[in-house]
Amino acid sequence: MSAGRTPIMAGNWKMNTELPEAISLASAVAEGTQGVEGVEIVVCPPYPFLLSVNKVLGDSHVQLGAQNCYFVDSGAYTGSVSASMVKQCGTSFVICGHSERRAVRYSQGLSSMADDDIVNRKVLKVLETAMKPILCVGETIEEFNSGTSKQVVKDHLVADLKNVSPFDMPKLVVAYEPIWAIGTGMTASPEIAQDMHAFIRNTITDLYSKEIADQVRIQYGGSVTPDTVDQLMACPDIDGALVGGASLDPAKFCRIALFNKVAEAAV
Ligand code: PGA
Repeated sequence: MSAGRTPIMAGNWKMNTELPEAISLASAVAEGTQGVEGVEIVVCPPYPFLLSVNKVLGDSHVQLGAQNCYFVDSGAYTGSVSASMVKQCGTSFVICGHSERRAVRYSQGLSSMADDDIVNRKVLKVLETAMKPILCVGETIEEFNSGTSKQVVKDHLVADLKNVSPFDMPKLVVAYEPIWAIGTGMTASPEIAQDMHAFIRNTITDLYSKEIADQVRIQYGGSVTPDTVDQLMACPDIDGALVGGASLDPAKFCRIALFNKVAEAAV
């Protein structure tokens, strides 16, 4: 974490919770992080609960995120949800290109480049709709083992950021999510994560400028827990976490989200 960037801790609830649980989870997170300063906190419930969760969050410090959206404004796209629909529910952030979404297309035999094209269109639509994308990138275990992680992540970034203006870049959050670490309990070591985060920042420097790269927040995602968050957040290029499993437990998520507050209190 660098002094110049506000950490951002986001909970991705995935396809979990029922309405009463979603409401109580959101209110527990709002209560448990009350009065906190110097960190942005986001929860991303399933689509049907966005409005109810937004109401519960009220004017608390916790912001609302969506887990996905479609890149077309309106039309005959049965079952799809547009960026402006999620915006109207109070959403400020939208996760774009989560590997669990990309996997739908991989499993249909569609190429990763075709997938990146769609992710790119989502990123542009989210920005155009005055929300902030959380762009997920990361390699599979096979790519990690074959030493191609950086090339894979770079290819995603180049394709997914196509036509994103330098003006919009500081609003965007990148989430480095090694697929082998998601939901597996195998958190990437702080060394591996920091090395990739620095590489992502350098790639953004090459694509834009150092000034812009220094403003973009880069989250780590993949089995983040209260036990692993402090070490990760101590790394200079890790500016936050995208949390799946542990975000469903309010005590765990609040501990993760308040990492710096807790660490400061312990000094
Ligand atoms: P996990 O999920 O924390 O359960 O590994 C992270 C994510 O998918 O964003």
